[in-house]
This record gives sequence, C-alpha cells and structure tokens, in this order.
Amino acid sequence: MSQQTVNPQTILMQASNNGKGTPGTIGQPITYEKIPTQIFADSKEASNAVAREIADLIRQKQKEGKKCVLGLATGSSPKTVYAILVRMHKEEALSFKNVISFNLDEYYQMEPDSIYSYHRFMKEQLFDHVDIAKENYFLPDGTVPPALLRDYCTSYENKINAVGGLDFQLLGIGGNGHIGFNEPGSLINSRTRLITLDHSTRVAAGMEFGGLHNVPRKAITLGVAPILNARRIVLLAWGERKASVIRGAVEGPVTELNPASYLQAHPDVSFVVDESAASELTRIKTPWAVDSVVWDNKMIKKAISHLSSSLNKPILKLTDKDYNDNGMSDLLAQYGSGYEININVFNQLQHTITGWPGGKPNADDTHRPERAQPSKKRVLIFSPHPDDDIISMGGTFQRLVDQGHEVHVAYQTSGNIAVADDEALRFIDFVVDFNKGFGIDSPEANQLFLDAKEFLKHTKDSEIDTPEIRKVKGLLRQGEAKATCRFVGIPTSQAHFLNMPFYETGTVQKKPIGEEDIKIVENLIEEIKPHQIYAAGDFADPHGTHKVCWDAIEAALQRSKHKNFMKDCWVWLYRGAWAEWDIYEIEMAVPMSPDQVLKKRQGIFKHQSQKDGVVFQGEDSREFWQRAEERNRATAHLYDELGLAEYEAMEAFVRWKF
Ligand code: F6R
Repeated sequence: MSQQTVNPQTILMQASNNGKGTPGTIGQPITYEKIPTQIFADSKEASNAVAREIADLIRQKQKEGKKCVLGLATGSSPKTVYAILVRMHKEEALSFKNVISFNLDEYYQMEPDSIYSYHRFMKEQLFDHVDIAKENYFLPDGTVPPALLRDYCTSYENKINAVGGLDFQLLGIGGNGHIGFNEPGSLINSRTRLITLDHSTRVAAGMEFGGLHNVPRKAITLGVAPILNARRIVLLAWGERKASVIRGAVEGPVTELNPASYLQAHPDVSFVVDESAASELTRIKTPWAVDSVVWDNKMIKKAISHLSSSLNKPILKLTDKDYNDNGMSDLLAQYGSGYEININVFNQLQHTITGWPGGKPNADDTHRPERAQPSKKRVLIFSPHPDDDIISMGGTFQRLVDQGHEVHVAYQTSGNIAVADDEALRFIDFVVDFNKGFGIDSPEANQLFLDAKEFLKHTKDSEIDTPEIRKVKGLLRQGEAKATCRFVGIPTSQAHFLNMPFYETGTVQKKPIGEEDIKIVENLIEEIKPHQIYAAGDFADPHGTHKVCWDAIEAALQRSKHKNFMKDCWVWLYRGAWAEWDIYEIEMAVPMSPDQVLKKRQGIFKHQSQKDGVVFQGEDSREFWQRAEERNRATAHLYDELGLAEYEAMEAFVRWKF
C-alpha cells in the first residue's frame, strides 16, 4: 500500500492557481471554493452521509480481505457519525473487526479513565459499542513522561505507517482553524508532537471541563504532515460559530493562521458542513454574486439588506447604480426600478417591528406580526435552561406580562451541571444553619452536607456528581428561575419545571431524546392550550441541549397539531445566547427602551449561579447579560442602519409553521 505524500510546494502552487473567483466554463457558476464542500440541511443528514461513506469503506476493505485504517477525531462534531456507526453495527451487521484506528490527539497530562480524556470519549461514543478489537485502536497516551515524549510521538506515527497509512481521516475544525490540535502557527510539515493549546481552544474546551482553569495547557497531536498523508480526508463543521473559519479555509489563502487551509491541496478532501457553518461561503451569503438566482421575496430581502449594510446606506437611498455595481442587475431587470424594490423591502422590515408581541387589541392587524384576537392570550415560553427565557427574550416576556397575557414558562432542563461545587456547598450549608437557627432537627440535612463536603473535597476527574449534589444544584437553579418569574410578575405556579430526563446524566454528554421527554412537553402543551408558544430555535447548537429541547417540542407539536386548540396556536422562535437571526429572516422584532434593557439585566442577575466566572462560559468571555445586551443592541442598530427607526435594543423572532 503506497502512501500519498503531499509536497508543501505543490500545495502553495495549487492554492495560488486557484485564484479568487475562478470563472467556470460558460453556463457554470463562478466558484470561490478551493475545497469541495458539501452543504447539508442539518448535521444529522450530513453525519449520515459521512457514516455511510465510512461504512462502505470498511465493507469494501473487508471484501478485499484488507484492514481499514481510520484516523478519528473527538469533540462535538463527529458524535453523530459515531452514533450512526454504532447503529449500523447493531442493525446492519457492520463489523469493525478489520478496523484499525488512530485518534488525532489527547490532552497532556491526562489519565485515560478521566471523564475529560479522549480515551474515555472514544470508548463511550464508539469503541465500547462495536466489535473493534482492543488492540486495534490507538490514541496518543497522555501519561507518557516528558522525557520520552519525542520518541513516543515518532513511534505513534511509525505505527500508522506500519499498517499502511490512513485510508480515511475524519476531522473537526477549531474556531481558530486548528485540525487535530495543530493550532495556528503550525507548519505544513509539522509532525506529531506536544503542543501548547491556544487560549481560544482552552476557552472552547472549558465547556466540557467545567471551567477554563481545569483545561490542560498542552496536548499531543498528530502533525499536519501525517494528516495530509491520509488517502481521503473528510472535515466536519456544524453551526454558525464555525462559519467564518470555514470560509477562510475554503475560500481564503493557504496560511498557517488557519491550518485547515492546508487541506486545499489534498487531492481527495471534502468538507461536509451544515447550512449554518456554510453561511459565510460566498455562494450562500451572496449567491447572486456567483450564479443566477430565483428572486423570491426572501432572496430579495436578503440581497437588499446585505447591499444596504455593505454600502453603509439606508435602504431607501439605494440607487439603480448600486444594484448594477453589485451583481444585482437581473433583479433590476425583473422589477424595472430599484426604488420600487427599496420601498417594498423597507415596508416589510417596518412591519416586523411591534411593541405588542401578543398582538395589539382592537388594532388592524393586517400588517402586524401577531393577531389582535384573542386580546388576552395564553402564552407558553419554553426555556431550555433555567435562564434562557430572560436572557433571550426577557424584554418580550415582560411586555407580554405587562400587556395582560397569561404567561407560563416551561423550564425544560434542570441546568444542574452548570452550577459550581462551592455554590452547591454554600446552599447546603445554608439549609443546615437555617435548621439550626430555627430549632429544626434535621439529621438528614446535616448528613447530606457532610457527605457532599466529603465528596466534593475528594472528587476525581473520573467521577460525576452524586445524585444528591445534582439535585441540590438543580434546586438552586429552580430557585433562581422562580425569582425571575416573580421579578417579571408572574406567579410561580406558572413556572413549570420539566426536568427532562435526557439531560440528567451529570455530564456534558446527554442521553438521546426519549419518549418520556416528548410526553412531558406534549402534556404541558395540552394542559395550557397556548395561543402562543415561544421556543429556542437553535437548530445548530453544537452542545446540543437547545437542539434536543427543540426536537422534543417539535415532536410534541407534530403529535398535537390535529387538536382543536392548536389551530389557534402560533409558534415563535428566539435564538439562544449565542447568535441572532439574520435580519432578512426576522418576522417579529420587539423593541426595548433603555429602561427596559436595564430591567432585563436585573432579571438576568437573579441567576446568581450563572454570574461571575460561570462553569460553562463557552467561547465567549462576556457574561450572559452582556451578551444579551450587545446582541439586542446590535439588532436595533442594524434596523437603524437600514434606515428604520432607532431603538435602544430589540429582541427578534421567527415564526415556525408546520
Ligand atoms: C478533536 C480535535 C479537534 C476538534 C476541534 C473541533 O480530536 O482534534 O480539532 O475537532 O476542536 O471541536 P468540536 O467538534 O467540539 O467543535
């Protein structure tokens, strides 16, 4: 079996030959993409295609009586691929007996049985569920003494070469472009080695590690050169947080600042992405610039808002020349005049703005986002975690209550893993002192405190919280959510704590959604019979909870859709703390005054356990209230820039229809 070696020189030549905006032959679209990129509607569909390719390769090699050598990745991106391979093993007799696998990386120092180790990840996601032989899978060893590391890394690569090299390498991509843990600055000919992790990589991993301070500073990674030696490479990317780095790798120059761009010269590489990760690619962001498009209303709104923002000109001031200079002359040809298009789009945007998210009673609602009737609506807000309601739609929540609607909030998960240990201890301590202070004899509470203290003192990486500690953490968050409800002005009887079972694993890794989860949501919808439902529409949330919460709602809605009350129920989607809807997608924008922004901030502050150095900070060092405010201000600013009214802040929604 010969290995295909990539010469760095060739890479750079090929990349520069593929200059910007390569024209296609007549009738073909222009392409800016230097890496074949397949875009799928969602990560599930995409993962299916990739799992299918891997399974076909394994079977093909089996037929030929050969070993199949796979390079594997960890992280959130390949999880579904592994889950599908496990299903194929169980249901379609896919055997891994001829598979030899090598993982890309492992943290250093890291014990293999730690809950944070990639060893454990791979066993839990794949190896323990298929028939791969123990001696056939390899991961870098995070316990090798420093003095032996250099030789160890060479021997890891030698082992790959000894079995004929990688037939297939699966990759994820870091927000900074890393592949494996080859951080920006890694050279194209870099070999397997110990690397110091980028701050941004550690921040991203802080999510899994329960805080940045727990994330190792180093890792062992397969180098760029051995990755490029794989005969076939597939890189996965989901979610808008990967969108700009994907654009850089696919359309930008080959640069060590974005190591994934080295893949441009590989002869058999594919990027497999979902729509969100593809959203910055030229063919998606400005499709009219690469090919002729169907100018439906959505495309027109997208193009005009983009033109207006990129030229820094209000919509009503765009001229025919602006259209012509920016690849939109066919739109002009279709409509005759830019002025007409401007007015039309302006009016549509104008009609999305309303201070009456529950509908304005006794008003003509022809051009309003919500119906006027019934004037008092039953509203059900679904909040995946106990604070998403206030963070993502606190201003709208407040208005709905102030305008007299009956607002219920369903807190879908307990959110218990996001509470720091010392917070939990503080609250147990409070209960013990409370009991003492009021002469309540509660040996159980005292014992619980002692046990918890003992557990938290000696807890190891390989352990997850005891059920009691998880319960305490969940109750603590429940108390915070209730405080927000009181603050906004609804009785706590209208706060529903669903504690959906899929979430209750005690780790970041959740169970798949089950019947029980869906039933809980379905029952609540049936009980409340809402006129309006608000839900988090984070369909590409890489850490999954928001997406699973939505899946449960969608399944419940599909089951309920024939019921009478559902005919009168509208579903509005908000986005979580991470991103906002694109302006052309927004169907309802609820403005906030400066005072309302401050009030929302105070509502968010009720979630004390999520303030000041939270467990799951994510890749963003701002606190949740800051993210919410900046995002809401940015939306208002965008409306303002397009030439609409200037508000302090705005929350945005998209309507979901069956
Ligand atoms: C993991 C690895 C990394 C990840 C990357 C993306 O083995 O090598 O390059 O693929 O950090 O991680 P996720 O998929 O969690 O976004």
